Amino acid sequence: MARHETSGNSGTGTQRVVAAVARVTNVIPRLAQSLDTLGAVSSWRAWCLRNGMGRSYDTREALWSGEVLPRLVPPPDSEESITIFEFGVAFGEATRWWLDRIDSPHLRYHGFDRFTGLPQRWRGMPAGAFDADGRTPAIDDARVTWHVGDVEDSLGDIEWATTKGRRFFNFDLDLFRPSLAAWEAIAPSLETGDIFWFDEAFDSDERLLLEAYVMPTGRFEGLGFSPFGGALIVS
Ligand SMILES: C[S@@+](CC[C@H](N)C(=O)[O-])C[C@H]1O[C@@H](n2cnc3c(N)ncnc32)[C@H](O)[C@@H]1O
Repeated sequence: MARHETSGNSGTGTQRVVAAVARVTNVIPRLAQSLDTLGAVSSWRAWCLRNGMGRSYDTREALWSGEVLPRLVPPPDSEESITIFEFGVAFGEATRWWLDRIDSPHLRYHGFDRFTGLPQRWRGMPAGAFDADGRTPAIDDARVTWHVGDVEDSLGDIEWATTKGRRFFNFDLDLFRPSLAAWEAIAPSLETGDIFWFDEAFDSDERLLLEAYVMPTGRFEGLGFSPFGGALIVS
């Protein structure tokens, strides 16, 4: 009996420690958020190891350089087209990263965003987080097309089945509903070699998409993962 009382979450010692931590996190909400993020990151890492997601990287940029760029960029004299779709652009940090590293004139970059921030709360951030005042990033590159507005409305700008060549889909809308809308637009036209990045797969919204929609197709292989996101390729 005594042994049972001190095991698992019901042990009195465990309960007292958890109660003390909970009191502190009530006073310092950011600590609660940080603990929640640490738990989610740890659960994401375990998921990646269980699901053969490939090599672990410390940052998304290291993973993009190591796994995605070499597969996405054709040899210098090739005329093969490259198309990048970024769902959730905000201030263009990721957009600039890709444009700076691919100098091919055959690259077409499509950035989707409402540019007024998240339509609802997400992980402790208020609605409107990442608000760019409705303005697209100041990027002067003729290869870029912006699709401004709710992604649910702008996905129809693209004829998904006719975009050929090397394709990279960067999911970074954070929320489940718009991410699902983007997935449903793309899914019927998946091609072998298409590469997907889920920027916030550590969180339950993108993970739901991954677990309930992407992985069940049986067509995706992991290319690698970072603390927050994961890359997959269509086989
Ligand atoms: C985390 S930010 C993107 C960051 C960017 N990819 C980067 O790495 O620099 C998420 C973006 O998703 C956009 N977003 C969320 N829901 C959306 C929706 N339904 N339609 C359009 N944009 C949306 C927000 O406006 C926000 O700018």
